[in-house]
Amino acid sequence: MEKSVRLQKFLAMAGVASRRKAEVYIADGRIKVDGKICTAMGQKIVPGVHTISFDNKPVTAKEQPIYILLNKPKGYVTTLSDPQGRPIVTSLLHGIKQRVFPVGRLDLDTSGALLLTNDGELSQKILHPKFEVHKTYEAHVWGTPSTQIIQSLEHGILLGEKKTAPASVQIKQKTSRNSVLIITIHEGRKRQVKKMLQSVGHPVQSLKRLAYGRLGLDNLAIGKYKFLHQNDLNKIFQKNPLQRTK
Ligand code: URA
Repeated sequence: MEKSVRLQKFLAMAGVASRRKAEVYIADGRIKVDGKICTAMGQKIVPGVHTISFDNKPVTAKEQPIYILLNKPKGYVTTLSDPQGRPIVTSLLHGIKQRVFPVGRLDLDTSGALLLTNDGELSQKILHPKFEVHKTYEAHVWGTPSTQIIQSLEHGILLGEKKTAPASVQIKQKTSRNSVLIITIHEGRKRQVKKMLQSVGHPVQSLKRLAYGRLGLDNLAIGKYKFLHQNDLNKIFQKNPLQRTK
């Protein structure tokens, strides 16, 4: 007899979404098991025996995994649909049969490195705080942060109730009005970089993600993407050499 798996795990393995996101879909009543909506979180199913659908489309066992690095332009949303009709990142991909989803998010007005995959397990690993995947950003900010401010950003500042984890911050360029910072963090709170810099008095003018770990954009033009292989995926989990703290 086939082994049973939890519904959210099956959905992640089938490439519908990360396990966490799949739980949201289950809770939202978008998943059916044998034609009936299933909102029970621990539900076990047997692949190939039970019929699973997502938004009434059948979900079948695992597709070929696919990994893409996109240089996201500003003005694109990183959700798979947008009620306001703004352009979505997946519309930049062509001829890809698999249903891929972004790993994490980038704001509408943030550009740069965005991973897309149908591999829910890898996505979950990249997003899980335990793995502390380093994300490096180039931030154009108003003014120039003092050494003291840089140190406080590096050691952690209070954002809401919680202190931010150690980070690395370097000034790449400065003028009398603004500067370009390279900042590496390993958390993934919503709008974290903008909030950190806003809270120390240096609001972000523009933000670009340069890398996940040591997987950088290299010469990838804006709006273009490339397929990743195992050696690229390994780089995601390598600590960025810029990281001085911790
Ligand atoms: N931090 C932000 O503030 N915005 C992003 O899009 C990514 C990280």
